[in-house]
Amino acid sequence: MDPVNFPSGGESSEAGEQIGSALADRDGVLRELSHHLTQAWASFDHPRPVEPAPAADLVERLSWALPADGSDPRTALGDAVQILEASISPSRPLFLAYVGSSGLEAGVLASALLAAYDANLATAAGAADLLDQQAVRWVAEFVGFPAAEGHFTSGGQTSNLTAILTAREQALPGAREDGLGGRRATVYCSAEAHHSISRAVEAAGIGRRSLRRVPIDAEHRMRADALAEAIARDRADGFTPVAVVATAGTTLTGAVDPLDAIAEVCEREGVWLHVDGAYGLPAAATSVARARFRGLDRADSATIDAHKWLGMQKSCSVVLVRRKGALRAAFGHEESYMLHDADSANPVDSTFEYSRPFRSLKVWLSMRVHGADQFRTWIEGTLAHAERFTEAVRADPSFELLHEPMLSTVCFRHVPEGMAESELDGHNARLAEVIQRDGRVYLAPAELDGHTCLRVCFVNYRTTSEDVELALEVIRELGELPNLGVTP
Ligand SMILES: Cc1ncc(COP(=O)(O)O)c(C=O)c1O
Repeated sequence: MDPVNFPSGGESSEAGEQIGSALADRDGVLRELSHHLTQAWASFDHPRPVEPAPAADLVERLSWALPADGSDPRTALGDAVQILEASISPSRPLFLAYVGSSGLEAGVLASALLAAYDANLATAAGAADLLDQQAVRWVAEFVGFPAAEGHFTSGGQTSNLTAILTAREQALPGAREDGLGGRRATVYCSAEAHHSISRAVEAAGIGRRSLRRVPIDAEHRMRADALAEAIARDRADGFTPVAVVATAGTTLTGAVDPLDAIAEVCEREGVWLHVDGAYGLPAAATSVARARFRGLDRADSATIDAHKWLGMQKSCSVVLVRRKGALRAAFGHEESYMLHDADSANPVDSTFEYSRPFRSLKVWLSMRVHGADQFRTWIEGTLAHAERFTEAVRADPSFELLHEPMLSTVCFRHVPEGMAESELDGHNARLAEVIQRDGRVYLAPAELDGHTCLRVCFVNYRTTSEDVELALEVIRELGELPNLGVTP
């Protein structure tokens, strides 16, 4: 191996000093950053008339090889901002694809602080641990889940995996040590549950073939009767049910599974109930949508993505568990480089992740700055947007509403007069592309009940009622262009 060359002599000691003060003009650079941020925030206040393409000279710089020498941070910052300006940002009010966010400003402040201090929440981190647990309690209280413990994670995928691994250890004690050892296990979720459940089941060694996709009803919700039948069938065949994953807000339509009826089955069968509320659970905090989540307090665990409807920056999810000790049973361990005294347990003894950033600071600061009521008002505002959008779609004969929305997601399609049914899928897929290219609205196509559709999801606090009207106007305008404005 080549020896490491440490700098020596006059020239290199200068290099050493440069490293020590890499940002020599800290105030100047921070002022520059602050200027960029205020510009960005101002531009997020309104939809953009177009999605700009990156300038040719910027694209050229993106082909440069690794620079051996440094350069002016202001110039590099300027390029970073230009790149972001030419990229898709869910912070913009008419980003309506997938499940977006808001890029809440208080979260940006916390993001800067947590990056600067770089606390590691894997080990005991001092006062940060107290704040972290306070933020977990706040999120649990906000959505109405009786959590005894919980953690911030890297996203819904990790929260769901954490819950499945925890449930596996409860149903099959010792599985983390011995593997399944020939024992056959099953997990249940609805036909429209998020793919992260499949991945979690794969990663837990249960095997995707043992994930039972329970049929849904006309409202796209898991059928509790079909769940009970599936569990009975599997038990008779010698399977051990590990967990039922109910979705509280499916990604496709925002359907909330009947939690109470599912909890009934789980309690009767002694099966762990996990609620994947990555997208929808924040709505349980509102008086208008709370009733849809009845039974949530009977679940064993729940996932909430703060980087979706709570407006936080990615990545920031929370996994909550009702019974204390279940996480430690699934993740506790002894390593010689980290002492695990019972009195000073490291958080890593109850998390799937090792090194963990101080994600909770974003939620904590935002809740401190805005308060829970403001969050409720924002969420109710987005629910009202979805309702307004739904009514406008219903009232316009050139559109067809494809389901009755439960939360803030609406699936619909454009049905030009005289167009044959067989042409509608292709037309809507092309229309989605044309809308994305136009840039005023960003949405993604989806497939619902065999139809290609347009799908919008309102979770951004920056979206106004006027923006909602504009979105539909743009979609209508582009849909009516002869041949969708594409020259053959
Ligand atoms: C219902 C649901 N669960 C889980 C996930 C995965 O979350 P993440 O992307 O934060 O890992 C999503 C993402 O959209 C989701 O909608």
